[in-house]
Amino acid sequence: MVSPSAALAPLVTAAIAQAFGEDFRGADPVLRPSQFADLQSNAPLALAKRVGMPPRDVAAKIVAELEALGVRDVVSGLEISGPGFVNLTVSDAWVSAQAAALAADERAGVPVQDPRTVVIDYSSPNVAKEMHVGHLRTTIVGDALARTLEELGHTVVRQNHVGDWGTPFGMLIEHLLDVGEDSPDAALLETDPNAFYQAARVKFDGDEAFATRARARVTTLQSGDAGTLATWERLVGLSRVYFNKVYATLGVTLTDVDLAGESTYNDELAGICDELQEKGLATVSDGALCVFLDGYTGREGKPVPLIVRKSDGGYGYGTTDLATIRRRVHDLHADRVLYVVGVTQAQHFEMVWQTARLAGWVPDDVEVVHVKIGSVLGEDRKLLRTRAGSALRLMALLEEAVTAATAVVEERRSDLDAATRAEIGRQIGIGAVKYADLSVAHDSDYVFDLDRMLALTGNTGPYLQYAVTRLRSIFRAAGLDPQEAVARRVVVTEPAERALALALLGFGGVVAAVGDELEPHRLCVYLFDLAQTLSAFYEECPVLKAATSEARESRLALCAASLRVLLLGLGLLGIEAPQQM
Ligand code: ARG
Repeated sequence: MVSPSAALAPLVTAAIAQAFGEDFRGADPVLRPSQFADLQSNAPLALAKRVGMPPRDVAAKIVAELEALGVRDVVSGLEISGPGFVNLTVSDAWVSAQAAALAADERAGVPVQDPRTVVIDYSSPNVAKEMHVGHLRTTIVGDALARTLEELGHTVVRQNHVGDWGTPFGMLIEHLLDVGEDSPDAALLETDPNAFYQAARVKFDGDEAFATRARARVTTLQSGDAGTLATWERLVGLSRVYFNKVYATLGVTLTDVDLAGESTYNDELAGICDELQEKGLATVSDGALCVFLDGYTGREGKPVPLIVRKSDGGYGYGTTDLATIRRRVHDLHADRVLYVVGVTQAQHFEMVWQTARLAGWVPDDVEVVHVKIGSVLGEDRKLLRTRAGSALRLMALLEEAVTAATAVVEERRSDLDAATRAEIGRQIGIGAVKYADLSVAHDSDYVFDLDRMLALTGNTGPYLQYAVTRLRSIFRAAGLDPQEAVARRVVVTEPAERALALALLGFGGVVAAVGDELEPHRLCVYLFDLAQTLSAFYEECPVLKAATSEARESRLALCAASLRVLLLGLGLLGIEAPQQM
């Protein structure tokens, strides 16, 4: 099945070529929504000059060719309006047939695209530090993109670029050795890693002997000392428990298989520096090996370098990221590489990729994209913090959302047992946080407002979850399984039925656009519109109490298709749908 614009665009394009000849093959049909029809083609105005005819005459020729091409199989209304628009209204019979096909399609019209290998770097928290709300957002957006691209038929390789290497590890290892690997202090790594980090930090800043030990430990770690590596592994392992807890709570698809932390690139860094130097791309400046790229200047026009080897011989974030792009292209065979990372790192990535392209590590046909993630703000419009001013614990935030949602369910649904209410509360609380994150363009900031996220009205997760439960309750009342027992005969007659059917036909195109443009919020906009169209449909068109059995059957088919689209859509966003709420 197809949407009206997908059905009509090739017809209008073909009609233009028929009317004006070969030179016009592939012309843009310029289809736009219209107040007076389903679609209007503005092509006559765009073409008038070129073909030397008044727009309305151009329109008349296109209309004649459209008729010859059999456009009447699709449209019931075809007329010229205004200065030279062609108004197109698809017929109820066509809409009905398309909607019936959609109701029978398990993919609800989501296309299978030419498969590409897409590597997605997302989440990427730092060991022994709290995952902050910034990491929350890259985790949620990245996961929605991974799910969507997989659904579109692509091979997705997830890469969790965990910060598990570098100078802080001297301090962290020394602290772990001090407190003992099996101590309660070490166990903090699994529950409140920031507390562990802060304790190490306080010692480092206040205890000179500890600081000296910590610095020496960095060197032993980097020289590959076995005992030090064992402690480091323990540290990373405890942190992993924490990350996995967050992922399980959020319902995110990342697993240990997807871990590819900074440390996994160690052996490649020296070679990267050598190669850059051999190719004349890197030069030594003040003892550090640097790449200077055109157009990157700081204050007073001083060039800003990408430092690939520090003057002390150590490697930094930039060097590791040169290694990431190389591995993703060469070993993981990426056609497309996405870095779902905070917007503040934009310049870092631009410099790394430009360097990698100059070094010949990234062929022109590999697309590399920074999916920029905006900030999560508090009510004061500053970065979200606790009242005391420290970074907010992600787990605490999620727990708060679930508690608030459960309280509402407890009030509304005293008929359900406590376990069921708790489960629904969890689904609503987590869904609300995820949806709030996804429904905003990924590169804009948003204010974290739990009350608004949990509201049952407006563009929220709970509103969409409610739309699902309302559909489910219709099928429960009818004693029907929506995907099995529904005859898929659709006969659209009422405007509200027609509007719903047309909305459903748009789903596949929206999912494809989310994958192409990497913008999950478009799916949220679509689902919210669909839920509103559904509400209007219920108002106008009783389903179980429809006047005829034909209308009842048709409306149930539309409801089954709506349920499928909502479930698929929420699934792509990584949001669960409760059975009832
Ligand atoms: N660990 C980094 C941070 O917390 C994000 C890493 C993103 N990925 C990358 N390849 N640099 O800011």
